Amino acid sequence: MLTQLYYDTLKRIIYENTGIVFDERKKYFVENRVSEHMEELGITSLKEYLFKLKMDKNVLKDFISKITVNETYFYREYYHLKVLARLVQTESLGYPVRVLSIPCSTGEEPYSIAIVLNEVLGSPTKFEITGVDIDKNALAKAKEGTYGRRSVSRLPSQYLEKYFYKVDEGRWKIKEIIKKRVRFYEGNILNRLFLKGLGKFHYVFCKNLLIYFDDRARSQAINNLYDVMTDGGYLFLGHAESLSRSSSLFEPVRIENSIVYRKVSEDEDEW
Ligand SMILES: C[S@@+](CC[C@H](N)C(=O)[O-])C[C@H]1O[C@@H](n2cnc3c(N)ncnc32)[C@H](O)[C@@H]1O
Repeated sequence: MLTQLYYDTLKRIIYENTGIVFDERKKYFVENRVSEHMEELGITSLKEYLFKLKMDKNVLKDFISKITVNETYFYREYYHLKVLARLVQTESLGYPVRVLSIPCSTGEEPYSIAIVLNEVLGSPTKFEITGVDIDKNALAKAKEGTYGRRSVSRLPSQYLEKYFYKVDEGRWKIKEIIKKRVRFYEGNILNRLFLKGLGKFHYVFCKNLLIYFDDRARSQAINNLYDVMTDGGYLFLGHAESLSRSSSLFEPVRIENSIVYRKVSEDEDEW
């Protein structure tokens, strides 16, 4: 049973390492994950567990992996993939088209983007995609690229046939032509230096993460993304997420009935 003091300490560790704010309603969930983790490590006291979390980076990473929500699937929020397809056909921001998917979870989002870009650009050499997530276990699945029925249920069947091998009943593996275009990295959206090392992107998908952040972490993440985007590049947020109205870094643009955010360059901002 987690005392309030231990729960507060765990919440602080989660926030400092991910930006995610856990409230009292998540206490039971955290309690379950912690006791599962303690059992795996053969630890019986919470005090010793907290000590391990502080001293051993791998234990901390496993803890983060246990408390993150990795829910995702192919063609999630399809309307944004349509917007991306339209933008790459109507506006040239540079070649190859570079897209960042952060957080990418188990890979369904960056692979969906790769499928769409291959369809509209006609060649896999015309784009490159980077997937980033803090959860190493999710990334291992992304790199492996094998998916169950639930993951592919929204993917149009012609693309399932074209871009996947059937492994066995109810499991499909993404083909090399798409897999090769996506590079995966373990990283934190709040780590500015790490992000800068990835280069510049024309399009950034940052979906279904910022809703778990407080204002401080959200604005830090948005600033970091701004820094890795090319001028005039586009930021895609999840349907429940939006930029604060006061943000002068991006201008909201309505395309095909969805809102995306265009990076305002430093020169434009001066006007
Ligand atoms: C719900 S998934 C979103 C996946 C995908 N973008 C989508 O919309 O389907 C949220 C992911 O955020 C990752 N995450 C949590 N905190 C993070 C952070 N600070 N930096 C990078 N990824 C993080 C989690 O590991 C999890 O895989």
